[in-house]
Amino acid sequence: ENAALLNAIIQNAIDGIITIDGRGVIETINPAACSLFQYSPEEVIGKNVFYLMPPPDRGQHDEYIRRYQHTGVPHIIGIGREVIGLRKDGSTFPFRLAVSEVAFSGRKIYTGFIHDLSKQKEAEEQLRDYA
Ligand code: HEM
Repeated sequence: ENAALLNAIIQNAIDGIITIDGRGVIETINPAACSLFQYSPEEVIGKNVFYLMPPPDRGQHDEYIRRYQHTGVPHIIGIGREVIGLRKDGSTFPFRLAVSEVAFSGRKIYTGFIHDLSKQKEAEEQLRDYA
């Protein structure tokens, strides 16, 4: 069945996938995102997504979403951005964030795709050190 196939794809995706509601509250998180941020699904579902980022974005993320909803002007949706994530242990890591807006059963949700860049960044820094 189609929904089961889709679920298997999401559960096994290499990239992290998180969905939030219109107020930034996490509704779903896949295993790849759980291991990147070091949380179990139970620990983050129902929490605001801003807990997964350090300041200054943490204190502004609700406003980012509100501004988008009022102006319709996207800053990440359909564009993508390199941002910093905050793990449960307090460490941070860079990732490529892609966000899309999805109309789902009469309401708007947002899906975030999280592509870890920490290995790539480390390699770049080592190359710089050699130069
Ligand atoms: C907007 C950072 C995760 C959904 C933004 C903006 C920043 C940001 C900087 C606005 C940029 C600007 O106004 O110039 C982050 C960081 C994250 C994160 C650091 C690390 C965890 C997520 C996730 C989702 C998400 C996982 C969705 C599941 C949105 C939405 C907007 C937004 C809907 C407003 C639309 C837009 O500006 O295009 N975020 N974000 N964010 N973010 Fe996040």
